Amino acid sequence: MKIFSGSSNKPLGEEIATQLNLALSPVEIFIFPDGERRIRLEETVLDEDVVIVQPTTPPTDTHYFELFLLADAAKRSGAKSVTAIVPYLGYQRQDHIFRDGEAVSLDVIVNTMQSVKIDKVISFDLHTIKIPEIFSIPMVHLSALPLFVEEIKKQGWDGLDTSLVSPDMGGIRRIKMISELLRDMPYATVEKNRDLATGNVEMAGLTGEVAQRMLIVDDMISSGGTIVKAAKLLKEKGAKEIYVFATHAVFSSDASDLLEKSVVDRVYVTDSVFVPEEKKFSKLQILSLAPSIAEALQ
Ligand code: R5P
Repeated sequence: MKIFSGSSNKPLGEEIATQLNLALSPVEIFIFPDGERRIRLEETVLDEDVVIVQPTTPPTDTHYFELFLLADAAKRSGAKSVTAIVPYLGYQRQDHIFRDGEAVSLDVIVNTMQSVKIDKVISFDLHTIKIPEIFSIPMVHLSALPLFVEEIKKQGWDGLDTSLVSPDMGGIRRIKMISELLRDMPYATVEKNRDLATGNVEMAGLTGEVAQRMLIVDDMISSGGTIVKAAKLLKEKGAKEIYVFATHAVFSSDASDLLEKSVVDRVYVTDSVFVPEEKKFSKLQILSLAPSIAEALQ
């Protein structure tokens, strides 16, 4: 097996390779003055199982295109198989037509992955469980929930006075799963309304009880609006401590700043998305997905 990484999250690629007692194979990514990329694998891959690590985080289009070129390079050089490790799958929220005239971006992504002959995709905490069905190539859908459960137990938050909360109705399946892993910990759900044109969110109310300690669980944090507003609502309803567990730290615009200044006590994310130093903040804790990915590759 040979592991290559695109430019979106090389530390994760290195960590996965380390877990497998391998070294990351070198790749040349040359950027022309006009922004086009030239990709060259610097190790032979003939008859090898090739793994490409490339979460498709912002700049999403660039990272997707790098992934496509890496896969193309591997297949043209005789790789036996190409597995794409895309822990964060960009464009997954546009998985159907919400308003007339829209593109189904995820469909375009799947078709392109297929045309560059990616054999398998490994991803984490997809926005809906329907996504693997849309994929015409095998997809392994993993979750960071067991990692979060481990941390919750380590912190001793798996007892009384604690409740889980989904910051929107769409997360109900996720919250039920983590509740089961925590011996049926009670859970609540925030009713969130999103303006489809602007993306702005509003919290309309809460279903379920508020405990002293609330654990918000979500798939991703992008602008931070959902978490900050859900936490504010929980605080107003009597929560004393609020911890957040979200798989993908997309942290677009001023999300880090909003979270740091919010009523949230700590934010746990994974390394599915590379968080640069300037986006780190004191309440942030990053847990690694590398051991789970390495296990899935063995
Ligand atoms: C929404 O349905 C997702 O589960 C996340 O809650 C959402 O994408 C987070 O986005 P933001 O941080 O921009 O509110």
